[in-house]
Amino acid sequence: MLRTHTCGELTIKNVEQEVTLSGWVYRNREMGGLTFVDLRDRYGVTQLVFDANKDKALGEKAGKLGREFVIKASGKVVERSSKNTKIPTGEIEIIVTTLDILNASKTPPFTLEEETDGGEDLRMKYRYLDMRRDAIKNNLLNRHKVTKAVREYLDGQGFADIETPFLIKTTPEGARDFIVPSRVNKGEFYALPQSPQTFKQILMVAGFDRYYQIVRCFRDEDLRADRQPEFTQIDCEMAFVEQEDILQIFEGLVKNVFKKVRDIELPVFPRMTYADAMRLYGNDKPDTRFGMLIHDLSTVVKGKGFKVLDDAEYVGAIAVTGASEYSRSQTDELTEFVKRPQIGAKGLIYVKYCADGSLKSSVDKFYTPEDLKKWAEAAEAKPGDLILVVSGSPSISRRALCELRLELGTRLGLRDKNKYNPLWVVDFPLLEQDTETGRWMPCHHPFTSWKKEDEHYFETDKSKIRANAYDLVINGVEIGGGSIRIHDRAKQEKMFTTIGMSKQEAEQKFAFILNAFEYGAPPHGGLAFGLDRFCSMTIANEENIREFIAFPKNNAGRDMMMESPSQVSEEQLKELGIKLDLK
Ligand code: AMO
Repeated sequence: MLRTHTCGELTIKNVEQEVTLSGWVYRNREMGGLTFVDLRDRYGVTQLVFDANKDKALGEKAGKLGREFVIKASGKVVERSSKNTKIPTGEIEIIVTTLDILNASKTPPFTLEEETDGGEDLRMKYRYLDMRRDAIKNNLLNRHKVTKAVREYLDGQGFADIETPFLIKTTPEGARDFIVPSRVNKGEFYALPQSPQTFKQILMVAGFDRYYQIVRCFRDEDLRADRQPEFTQIDCEMAFVEQEDILQIFEGLVKNVFKKVRDIELPVFPRMTYADAMRLYGNDKPDTRFGMLIHDLSTVVKGKGFKVLDDAEYVGAIAVTGASEYSRSQTDELTEFVKRPQIGAKGLIYVKYCADGSLKSSVDKFYTPEDLKKWAEAAEAKPGDLILVVSGSPSISRRALCELRLELGTRLGLRDKNKYNPLWVVDFPLLEQDTETGRWMPCHHPFTSWKKEDEHYFETDKSKIRANAYDLVINGVEIGGGSIRIHDRAKQEKMFTTIGMSKQEAEQKFAFILNAFEYGAPPHGGLAFGLDRFCSMTIANEENIREFIAFPKNNAGRDMMMESPSQVSEEQLKELGIKLDLK
């Protein structure tokens, strides 16, 4: 080995020992014939000292070392006169007698410090340098701890790790497929799995009973901070279980990982129905670290001659704690915030519930202070609060109130980084209607079963059918989701028909699973966690998953280091029988 120790392990106990270290030159400085080099590797930083007064040639060689040179240095461990209490090796230094330069380095294009000056694309282009920074390095090492803890837990529960293929036929999870042309079968394509959903169900039919896999999934969809085109799932499935069994087992998994990786004991996970989440928080993944709940004001605002509210299908409000003193420009800014195309609200009404108990609003013309007092009561506002009211279509208004709540929660410092609030959201609707085409689509995926007692809604109101589906949310981030599946051919066919698939299309796409259901399919269900989100949450309580992936893609889905996607040669295209038409 090119070292006797790592750069993170020598302490006062090693004084007087002859050692050899290898690593990267992190910082170097010269002082009165002495050259000090901070040598860094994965494990830490150790100070090396080169004394030109004792060995001129060695001193000169050390003086020429640049940042990120790779070196091997041998010498004696001594106690430092000025100690650094911030690092484990800070009480010692190495008086170097032999120096080998193993490789030189160009000056890095950005600083490899905690707070780097590199933009994201530059950091991704030189990801190997970025990964030398403590921040990314620790994220990746902690990610390893998470997967290790996951495997230990699932192994302990009797789950078998079974691999499933990547070159498959579509697995519908609501995104577009990435497709791969087949050379051998010209004109035909594989799809990369959006998830191993159908395979894990087939494994249950095969009798494996408890399956898991830490597996890459591929989805061609719009990217965001918490979405990558390829990402990793902790994918699980169980046979002979009901929803309650799944919630218990996987609540155990999450608790176990938090304990092992962060030494955090999570409480029993509360549960909330999808309907309540939408009503109180305006979305299906509530951040429950703070209140500021949404209140329905429909009954108190109507009948005073203000047409906007009188005609509104829905009127909702939140009370923002201590914001009654907001200026006109601040309320204008919030109005613009909800009018952005991403949200699409028509406007925002506000009521200032001043500290002295008086009420001022943007609709004073139509409402008396007594009327507004009723609004305040309905919104559970206190003196000093700012009441924000949005009206119109329930879905847009809820979205606006939800985004306002999250934004103001952030601005008011209510989304505490040290707090973890897990939550099971249950009883999702089975189907949602596409507003443009009028088609019914699965809310989760088409293999999800429904509640027996809601069966009759198939004939009357499909939006009312509740699925046996659940999501795990932590601090407003959807960490995972799953369902109890359909395991009966007739029911699966009914589902395909309901979502507008002809018998022929269902047969063509899903014959394998329909057939499997006829050979003794056991009742089964499962879920998948998004490992990248699980890690970003567990490790740092943050949403940007790119910092927890070794080689992520940027917002345009590009790998900046390899520069992919990229063009392929004419010859390759010809072999595949593909003609490009990029017009
Ligand atoms: P779902 O589509 O909800 O369920 O995915 C499960 C979890 O995967 C994560 N996730 C993503 N993470 C990063 N980038 C993405 N593009 C991305 N898409 C999803 C989320 C999500 O909760 N087969 C079902 C699971 C099941 O029913 O068992 C499925 O894939 O954290």
